[in-house]
Amino acid sequence: MLNKFRLRKKQNTSSTLRDKIEQVKKAAVPEHVAIIMDGNGRWAKKRALPRIAGHHEGMKVVRKTTKLANELGIKTLTLYAFSTENWKRPKNEVEYIMKLPDEFLGTFLPELIKENVQVKMMGYKDQLPIHTLRAIEKAIEETKNNNGLVLNFALNYGSRSEILDAVKQVLNDCNKGIIKETELDEKAFSSYLMTANFTDPDLLIRTSGEMRLSNFMLWQLAYSEFWFSDVLWPDFSEDHLLEAIEAFQKRQRRYGGI
Ligand code: FPP
Repeated sequence: MLNKFRLRKKQNTSSTLRDKIEQVKKAAVPEHVAIIMDGNGRWAKKRALPRIAGHHEGMKVVRKTTKLANELGIKTLTLYAFSTENWKRPKNEVEYIMKLPDEFLGTFLPELIKENVQVKMMGYKDQLPIHTLRAIEKAIEETKNNNGLVLNFALNYGSRSEILDAVKQVLNDCNKGIIKETELDEKAFSSYLMTANFTDPDLLIRTSGEMRLSNFMLWQLAYSEFWFSDVLWPDFSEDHLLEAIEAFQKRQRRYGGI
C-alpha cells in the first residue's frame, strides 16, 4: 500500500516536472546560460561532512542541469567550476576538485555523446594537472561533431586575466599591423576573449545567496539578466532551473534603450 502510494507520488512529481518543461518551452528560452555554482562547502558543513562531499554532490547536479538545459534547447551552458583564485584553497580540496572532471567525464561521457552534447572548456590550461586536462581534451575531441548543447566548463578561469591577455594580444596585433586601432570595436575585441566563438550569456544564475560576480565573464555579462537564489548548488534542482528561466522570460531586456 505504502509502496503504491510512493510510486503514485513519484509519477505525479515527474509529470508535474514534464508539464513545467513543456510550459517553459512555449516561450523563448535563453540561448546561453552561465552559472556560478556556489554553496558546495556550506551544503557539506550543514551535514557535518567534509567540504569535498559538497563538491561531489555538486558534480551530480552538473549532470542533471546539463540534461535539462539540453532538453530545453539552450544552446550553451557555461559552468564556473574553478576560478584562477580558487588555487588559494587547501591543497586537498583543490586536488579533489581537479579530479572531478575525470570522474564526471569518465562516468558520463558516453551519455553526453549519446545526447549530442558538445564539451568545451575556457580557462588557463597550462596550470591544470595533466589528468584533468587529458579528461577534458578527450571529451572535447569525442564530442566535437555533436551539435546539441555546448557544455562549456570554466576551469581555471578568471575574467580580469582574460581581458588583460586580450588587451596584450590586441597591442601585439596592432604592432604587427594585423588590426588597426580604428578597427577595434566591441565585436573585434570580443574575438580576442576566450569566448570568441560564443554569444554573450543571456542569463546568469548564482546559487547560495551570494550576490557578486567573483571575476566571472565581466565583459560578457554586460547585458545579461541575473538570477540569484539562496539555494546551495548541491540542492539546485530541475525546478530551480525552470524557475530561473521563467523569471528570465518575464524580464524586458532593453540594452540601454527604452
Ligand atoms: C563553489 O562552492 C564551488 C566550487 C569552487 C567548485 C564547483 C565545482 C563543482 C560544482 C563540481 C564541478 C564538476 C565538474 C564536472 C567540473 P564553495 O566551495 O565556494 O561553497 P561555499 O561558498 O559554501 O564554501
